Amino acid sequence: MEPTRRQGPNGAAESPAEDVQKAVEAAVWAPSVHNTQPWSFSRRGSRITVRADPDRRLAVADPGGREMLISCGAALLTLRVAVRRLGYEPQVRLLPDPDRPNLLADVVLGARIAESEDDRLLYEQIRRRRTHRGGFPPGGDVPPPLRARLEMEARQEGAELQAVEDPHALRALAALTEAAENLQRLDAPYRRECARWSPRPGSSRPEGVHAETYPRGEPRTEPYHFPGRDFARGHDWGTDPGKTGGRGAVTGLVMLITTSGDTPGDWLGAGQALQRVLLRAAEKDVAAAFHTQPLEIPELRELIRRRFCGGRYPQMLLRLGRAGAEPESVRRPADQSMTEDF
Ligand SMILES: Cc1cc2nc3c(=O)[nH]c(=O)nc-3n(C[C@H](O)[C@H](O)[C@H](O)COP(=O)(O)O)c2cc1C
Repeated sequence: MEPTRRQGPNGAAESPAEDVQKAVEAAVWAPSVHNTQPWSFSRRGSRITVRADPDRRLAVADPGGREMLISCGAALLTLRVAVRRLGYEPQVRLLPDPDRPNLLADVVLGARIAESEDDRLLYEQIRRRRTHRGGFPPGGDVPPPLRARLEMEARQEGAELQAVEDPHALRALAALTEAAENLQRLDAPYRRECARWSPRPGSSRPEGVHAETYPRGEPRTEPYHFPGRDFARGHDWGTDPGKTGGRGAVTGLVMLITTSGDTPGDWLGAGQALQRVLLRAAEKDVAAAFHTQPLEIPELRELIRRRFCGGRYPQMLLRLGRAGAEPESVRRPADQSMTEDF
């Protein structure tokens, strides 16, 4: 996408409508839990309003809407990156009306700014970033300077990104993920909900986790095995695990995103931190696998908070590594997430 450079006599864009459309088209490529895309956008003048779409919340896995708001936070960060790329300073008001909890943010296309190399680089990762599933090919470690950079990116959005390196902690987190995955597989309402968001191969639904995006046969990650979600539900669905799922596929760098509080504002912050980290990592060809199963079970989340996060609230559990080309996931056309103000 080329940024719009039309300028009115006082330096403002003649019509921001087209720019808003472009920014929303970028924002919908944010990650979201089960690819639910639980957001909507509307425009009035040069103001974009971001809302959560509670009809898309996972009622069983995410009754409090925490993951829905993390997903919306990721979309908000993406919107901010796109607005900057289009040449405006985004002015953001988070949760502008306490009586309307689904109203998440107002983003105004503010003063004109010159394009920076950093804005361009981040923007270019929006479509390149993809969720990884399964192990990583060995030898693709995240170098310490990149790790430090990612930690800084998370801090910039008010969250912490912390690496887990102690082998006992890694074994315990992997075991808790496995326990959570097994508990969820035992839970019929959870299974039905996951099935609703994992379409059969060949489906043309523009949402949910499709078989092209996960490896077949639940490959192990070594030396610490973090099981993936059961999107295939016992079917022989998924792609050839190849290098990433074969023998020797590695766990990668395990990281937690944490926040000091656990309010909707913290969840939105965690989502923005997540997407900033993912975009910066993608710039260096590093991808993330997500394991949020244990954070969906309150007792396990509380244990992780106390034992591995120094009392801070765990919002995301990730593995980072270099994976090569990942299949692109699907999205609803941007028009379908825009409401009537447009
Ligand atoms: C809050 C949140 C939780 C997620 N949890 C998982 C998870 O446990 N397992 C998984 O495979 N992917 C998880 N994902 C990744 C989504 O499934 C993914 O973003 C979505 O399918 C769209 O694909 P893409 O990221 O490749 O564009 C999560 C994403 C978010 C934002």
